[in-house]
Amino acid sequence: MTELTADLIIDNGTVVTDSATFIASVAIKDGKILAVGAADAMPPARERLDATGLHVLPGAIDVHVHFREPGYTHKEDFGTGTAAAACGGVTTVFEMPNVIPPTGTKEALALKHKLAAEKAYVDFGLYGLLGEDTIANVPDLIEGGVIGFKLYMGNTFGNTPSPSTGGMLEAFEVVAPTGKRISLHAETASIMARREAHMREQGRIDPLAHIAARPALVAIEAVSRAAILAEWTGARIHILHISSAEELRPLREAKARGVDITGETCPQYLLLGAKDYARVGSVIRVNPPVREERNQEPLWAALADGTVDMIATDHAPHVPEEKIRNDIWTADCGFPGVETQMPLMLTEVNKGRMAITDYVRWSAANPAKIWGLYPRKGVIQPGADADIAIVDLARHSAVDDAKLQSRAKITPWHGRKLHGVPIHTIVRGRFAMRDGVLCEDARGWGRSVHTIQQMPKAEPRHQGDTMLAIGRTPAGSEDAA
Ligand code: DOR
Ligand code: ZN
Repeated sequence: MTELTADLIIDNGTVVTDSATFIASVAIKDGKILAVGAADAMPPARERLDATGLHVLPGAIDVHVHFREPGYTHKEDFGTGTAAAACGGVTTVFEMPNVIPPTGTKEALALKHKLAAEKAYVDFGLYGLLGEDTIANVPDLIEGGVIGFKLYMGNTFGNTPSPSTGGMLEAFEVVAPTGKRISLHAETASIMARREAHMREQGRIDPLAHIAARPALVAIEAVSRAAILAEWTGARIHILHISSAEELRPLREAKARGVDITGETCPQYLLLGAKDYARVGSVIRVNPPVREERNQEPLWAALADGTVDMIATDHAPHVPEEKIRNDIWTADCGFPGVETQMPLMLTEVNKGRMAITDYVRWSAANPAKIWGLYPRKGVIQPGADADIAIVDLARHSAVDDAKLQSRAKITPWHGRKLHGVPIHTIVRGRFAMRDGVLCEDARGWGRSVHTIQQMPKAEPRHQGDTMLAIGRTPAGSEDAA
């Protein structure tokens, strides 16, 4: 064999980028895309896969998943969580820090890196926890290889304390010069705590009480405040799980002012509504809540006009005993989503809701660009990592919770009809799912993507007015007054 023998050629599929679809063959060698072009222009290959009639997409990048390890492995671990990703056409995930111990120290981060590298079927990035008492750990966490930071403005599973506005400002000041992005759970804790307490006093325990405790105002307030602090400090921020029409306004306004702010929404906010609370009860409890149906259209429109940059899932597994409760306040928040996102969205493509190029922009290209992974990831072109989802847009199926890879086999999607499903997933040239079946031998193949992340140059602002003015050094050292 010559040096130019490809490892694998995917023949004659419809290749999709964020701006075009075209029929082509894709040659893969050493985990990377070697060539994209006509089948008869391809080099010799060890293996050929006929993709006639199928679509060849960049694997999805889900920047918001909870894989629960260490601490809650009865819900999920890096093996089961990344298996779910692989079977959902997802080739890179960013994993959240609300585990035990929280991922807020270099030791906790190192442990997680080790666990993930042993078990992961897909590539991953790990978030570091940015809380009031981990601000001083920022340099260590960056050195340890975080993809970015997570800051909880509102309470949710794990009860990670929410920093005060003062703590947030300092956290932003410290992270801004590093160029890393801070992802925000943007719901204001104090508003929610008071409302929930009042409702509990009145004996409200029904599922819809959850929406009333967390009205869109909590997101409007949190997004607005975060945007002001980001504008002042130059910190890059990302708004997680955008759920309401109303929070789009502060997001749009901040973007218009030039704040480096991005946002994601999730399938549950695009496709589910208040009516689903009666259908599935407490299973639907998630933070932020699935809201009234009237929010769906504005969220779709915001994706289309670029106000919302991407789709993520907030994959948040809990086992059935933790989800099915008569008293809504005792049901754990969240449900699995990393495996169902792509088929749910492809179903919307088939309905004519958006073009498949839009889907690739929201699921792969934009996350890669915003997190500094493009063009290594998020696109099918020579030189990119061979991270690929091969999908059959003609295939009909239905979500069956029992068949999900996640350890937490309970979702509000059970029974939902699908039209368009991923059938093969390739991670850096290697099959992680083939013909709809997980490739067990890919366990441990996933690698941390922090090593390839290249964020644009940092643009911190006002460091002299704030940090230096009170005798702190911008590097985030402990020598605060
Ligand atoms: O419902 C949620 N569950 N929202 C979050 O933000 C966290 C997540 C979890 O970790 O379970
Ligand atoms: Zn989350």
